Amino acid sequence: MVKKNTCVFISGHGSNLKSLINYSRIQNFPINISLVVCNKIDANGILYAKKNSIPYLIVNTKKRNFENIIINEMKKYKISLICLAGYMKIISKKFISSYGKKIINIHPSLLPKFKGLNTFERVLKNNEIKTGCTVHYVNEKLDSGKKIIQKSFFINKNDNIKILKQKTQKLEYRAFSEAIIKIYRYN
Ligand code: GRF
Repeated sequence: MVKKNTCVFISGHGSNLKSLINYSRIQNFPINISLVVCNKIDANGILYAKKNSIPYLIVNTKKRNFENIIINEMKKYKISLICLAGYMKIISKKFISSYGKKIINIHPSLLPKFKGLNTFERVLKNNEIKTGCTVHYVNEKLDSGKKIIQKSFFINKNDNIKILKQKTQKLEYRAFSEAIIKIYRYN
C-alpha cells in the first residue's frame, strides 16, 4: 500500500497532530504526515513536527499571499490530503478550489450543532444530554461540509468545560484516525 502524503494544519497544542503521527506509523494506516503547517510561531504543536523530523511551515497570515505560499510548499511534498487539526483560521474558497483535493476538519461537537468557537460552554449552557466530535469534509462554509464520522458520549451532571474538553479530545483521536481509514477504504 502506498501511503497518501498528508499535510496537517495546526494553530495550538497539537495533540491531534501527535495522535495522527502515531497512527501514521502503523503499517496499514493509509497516510504519512509529510508536512505540518502552522499559523502561530509559538504553537506547542510545532514541537511534535520537530521531534519526529517532519518538515513544517510557519505562515504569517497577515501576508496577503500566505495561502499561495502554503499551496506551493504542499506541491513539493505531493500532498493529497489536508487534515485541519485545531487550525484557527478559515480556509478561503480560493484555497479550497486551487488545492482541489480532500480537506478534512475535526470539530468538538456533534455537528450541525454548535458550529464555531466556545463549543463546550454552549453545550453546557444548552443542557445537552450528549456531546462529542465530528470529522467532516471542508467546504467554503464554516463547519458545514459533509460528515465523515461522528462519535458521542453522555454528559454527566458534574462535567464542566475542562472535563468535557478532555473527554471530547480522547474521542477525537479515534475519530480522526477512523475517518481517514474510512475515506481511503471507500474511495
Ligand atoms: C480540537 O479539540 C479540535 O476539535 C478543535 O481544536 C482542538 C485542537 O486541539 N478544532 P489540539 O491542538 O489538537 O490539541
